[in-house]
Amino acid sequence: MEEHRFVDGSPLDEQEVSTELSLRPQNLQQYIGQQKVKEELSIYIQAARSRQEALDHVLLYGPPGLGKTTLAMVIANELEVGIKTTSGPAIERPGDLVALLNDLNAGDVLFIDEIHRLPRVVEEMLYSAMEDFFVDIVVGQGPTAHPVHFPLPPFTLVGATTRAGALSAPLRDRFGIVSHMEYYDEQSLTEIVKRTASVFESDIHEEAAREVALRSRGTPRIANRLLKR
Ligand code: ADE
Repeated sequence: MEEHRFVDGSPLDEQEVSTELSLRPQNLQQYIGQQKVKEELSIYIQAARSRQEALDHVLLYGPPGLGKTTLAMVIANELEVGIKTTSGPAIERPGDLVALLNDLNAGDVLFIDEIHRLPRVVEEMLYSAMEDFFVDIVVGQGPTAHPVHFPLPPFTLVGATTRAGALSAPLRDRFGIVSHMEYYDEQSLTEIVKRTASVFESDIHEEAAREVALRSRGTPRIANRLLKR
């Protein structure tokens, strides 16, 4: 019997990640909907570019499946900088964070999905990294243990969370740009479905695209899954 998979906003499996990467919008102009978020980001991005500075840290919050990861990649593209992608639960120890930060070039984006799930010790290390671009680490053990001051290149942290209320106040306060992602309206979802269909080089009627949009609970991830089915 064919396995019947429930179409909802649950996280992407591996194959979906690779197809999503290939169909993602590359810049703000291609990114459909979220008008307010885009307008605000566009102003900050232009300012950062003209000053040749790192963009202020960005917190994206809202329900799953609305394109937070996609938007993080668009931000890096618009800034013409590199991006490293990780998630809160994947950074288990302070050393994991130092390794990621050490790998950044000046101006790069570090994207942390599910940032509300960072271990406390890692979160505390992020404070100085975000605010003054350094971390203090302890090198060695026992009597030879000594603190090392580790300067970092200026970078932009883009954090994504489904639960802004689950973030501690000290972490939340270190984001200069806080953007709330909203459910998409029918028209935007219809556009997204048509765009996805054209990326897959398949034709879809306006009416059919709207029918898919109507069944997607405002969520592009659901719309794209229904379309594929
Ligand atoms: N695919 C998923 N979300 C999208 C969006 N907001 N714009 C364009 N393509 C998308």
